[in-house]
Amino acid sequence: MGLQLLEDQAESARALLAPEVLSYYDAGAGDEVTRVESEPAWAGFRLRPRVLRDVETVSTATTAAGVALAHPVGVAPMAFHALADRDGEVATAQGAGRSGALLVLSTRSSRSLEDVAAAASGPWWFQVYVMKDRRLTESLVRRAAAAGAGALVLTGDTPYVGLKRRVSGTRLAVPDDHFLVNLAAHAVPGQSITAQRAAAEQDPAVDLSTIRWLAEVSGLPVLVKGVLRGDDAVACLEAGASGVVVSNHGGRQLDRALPSALALAEVAGAVAGRGAVLVDGGLRSGTDVLVALALGADAVLLGRPVLWALASGGADGVAACVGAVRSHLEHVMALAGACRLDQLGPDLVVAPRAPG
Ligand code: FNR
Repeated sequence: MGLQLLEDQAESARALLAPEVLSYYDAGAGDEVTRVESEPAWAGFRLRPRVLRDVETVSTATTAAGVALAHPVGVAPMAFHALADRDGEVATAQGAGRSGALLVLSTRSSRSLEDVAAAASGPWWFQVYVMKDRRLTESLVRRAAAAGAGALVLTGDTPYVGLKRRVSGTRLAVPDDHFLVNLAAHAVPGQSITAQRAAAEQDPAVDLSTIRWLAEVSGLPVLVKGVLRGDDAVACLEAGASGVVVSNHGGRQLDRALPSALALAEVAGAVAGRGAVLVDGGLRSGTDVLVALALGADAVLLGRPVLWALASGGADGVAACVGAVRSHLEHVMALAGACRLDQLGPDLVVAPRAPG
């Protein structure tokens, strides 16, 4: 399912990556129910196209959280890109820049955020895991703001890292210099590597008050990632968030969580234009993006396809992946009778019928 180029890149990546890296990237949590359901959930929607609407010129220009974008297809935050390409997130940023994609950089990047910022030629946001040592988090988000991040994306679905059967423990045994690349500079003199890694683990005591704290220390808008319920989206907005990312973390956290495709309409309805709504999880084609935008997303993020693109083709691979999804979006917009994104609304889609 999905675009041929993305499938080809995934196949090449499977042949090139070490088996343990492939498993780490691909895995979902638990029985992988959520990971498996994420892609087909988009294909469950049916479209109600319009005819005779002059679609000779199609524009995908949009804004998300106040950022002007040439198109709504961005790169999701994912850990440790250097396992896929020697240049890691630096190459990802180059590819994202060449294709006009918004980049969301992970706290767990394997290249320093300053190096990635220097390579970015387009907008980028910084994803935040609030770590047990709050001082570390504060230093990191101040650095992200100083380096040019346009927003923070606070991941809310990871109080603990989800257990994955295909990975021993919760995550691949990455070298310390990958895990701590953004953090080593803040270590207390004499602090052991083990203590540094422990301080950098997620703090499970994080709550809604963290949103305002992050906005204050960074001076940046804060979006909350991992929202799957309308009431939760409203709680985040009331606590100071500028938007939400509808996501189940690619099925890597709570297994049996709802596919993003089935949570999006409720969340977008609850947000009701008071903040940005992004979505990720299982998006693999322009048609998937069309459905997401019609259901109320301002932009989408691609996860694993970017890792496969990076592994198989470096920065050029990433640019080709985003470019293919973007041009497919233009094509299906035209076939659906829309030449601008503001013409995409819930009337364009018919939701899958509930079973039973
Ligand atoms: C992730 N994701 C993730 N999310 C986050 O907020 N911070 C992170 O560091 C990571 N790391 C990470 C590593 C790997 C290997 C994967 C596959 C995913 C989740 C990611 O941002 C996104 O929600 C999903 O990957 C989207 O689903 P698809 O497109 O992979 O199906």
